[in-house]
Amino acid sequence: MTIEKAAAIGGGVIGAGWVARLVLNGIDVSIFDPDPEAARKVGEVMKGARRAYKKMLPGGLPKEGKVTYAKTIAEAVADADFIQESVPERLDLKHKVLAEIDLHAPASAIVGSSTSGIKPTDMQVAMKKHPERLVVGHPFNPVYLLPLVEVVGGEQTFPEAIEVAKEIYASIGMKPVVIRKEIEAFVGDRLLEAAWREALWLVKDGICTVEELDDIMRYSFGLRWAQMGMFQVYRVAGGEAGMRHFMAQFGPCLKWPWTKLMDVPEFNDELVDLIATQSDEQAHGLSIRELEKIRDDNLVAIMEALSKQNKGKGWGAGALHNDYTKQLARLASKKPVSKAAAKAKAAKPVKKDKSEKSKKKSGGKKKG
Ligand SMILES: NC(=O)c1ccc[n+]([C@@H]2O[C@H](COP(=O)([O-])OP(=O)(O)OC[C@H]3O[C@@H](n4cnc5c(N)ncnc54)[C@H](O)[C@@H]3O)[C@@H](O)[C@H]2O)c1
Repeated sequence: MTIEKAAAIGGGVIGAGWVARLVLNGIDVSIFDPDPEAARKVGEVMKGARRAYKKMLPGGLPKEGKVTYAKTIAEAVADADFIQESVPERLDLKHKVLAEIDLHAPASAIVGSSTSGIKPTDMQVAMKKHPERLVVGHPFNPVYLLPLVEVVGGEQTFPEAIEVAKEIYASIGMKPVVIRKEIEAFVGDRLLEAAWREALWLVKDGICTVEELDDIMRYSFGLRWAQMGMFQVYRVAGGEAGMRHFMAQFGPCLKWPWTKLMDVPEFNDELVDLIATQSDEQAHGLSIRELEKIRDDNLVAIMEALSKQNKGKGWGAGALHNDYTKQLARLASKKPVSKAAAKAKAAKPVKKDKSEKSKKKSGGKKKG
């Protein structure tokens, strides 16, 4: 399944990241965002994304898709075959926006929500026409570089919609992972939230500063996680006996006071001031845009390094990086279709591709 025309509802940090990934894949995107500054902000993110893609593709980028700003949600989604919602994380707002998307989008269009943790079942109740086409497509910032997207279906989501969503995300260079059971925060944010909670305690209790905590992470297990994740790293840490030995050795620690887990530090002004002040000091005067550039360069460098591993086949995100850069290079080398040729092609009846059929099929059975 490839997308001809996409719509982005919400063009903030995440929405703009989606726009950048789609547009850099040659896809036209229509954006709706009521913020009068939206076009400028999306432009800034596009600039950063273009810069990062130029590093990934020294041979040149594909022709960009067209960006348009719609005045209403109805206008943005009218002829879209894929819609990604990225409005602020409030259930009432998600309901309002998804209801409107549902009312005006073509029945066959897939609707993805960027929500970080709201269950799709709780969102799709607002979609009165076609709730079966809603999936959570939870990305990671920056969306134009990090390939993972967690795909989650709700009680009313058709299995076929999940399949089509997977194809769509994969077609723009992402790695969709379908979450087997619908839970709040899915897998990524459940893990991140646990780490974040502990980090807040450690700083609040004066055990370390935010900078020290980040150093402890980025000079050690952060590097391991980027290439093997958690379980495979621990398997290796068990020595020749592997995972069983690792678990025998560290299993008992689960009962030791190694974690505050469910205890949450009181979220008050004092905590916010403490963290924000230390974070300002850690930035050493670098602006957010400057930090974004550094982050993007590092991410491209990490993915490129991983792409050369495993006898050149790439390892983890590096293997996908190889495929993605090849796909973009192929797209970049495509000759633009002349208007006459495009007209002639449009005049011929086009065979329905597999995805069209599967979209049709999505009138079938509901997810159990
Ligand atoms: N920031 C992250 O790291 C991150 C990561 C993954 C997922 N998410 C999820 O993505 C979604 C968006 O988060 P964000 O960080 O981009 O927030 P953001 O505040 O940067 O952007 C939200 C945008 O939505 C716009 N908006 C508000 N009301 C709207 C409406 N009625 N219609 C259309 N647009 C509207 C705002 O003007 C703003 O530009 C949230 O659900 C969030 O949980 C965020």
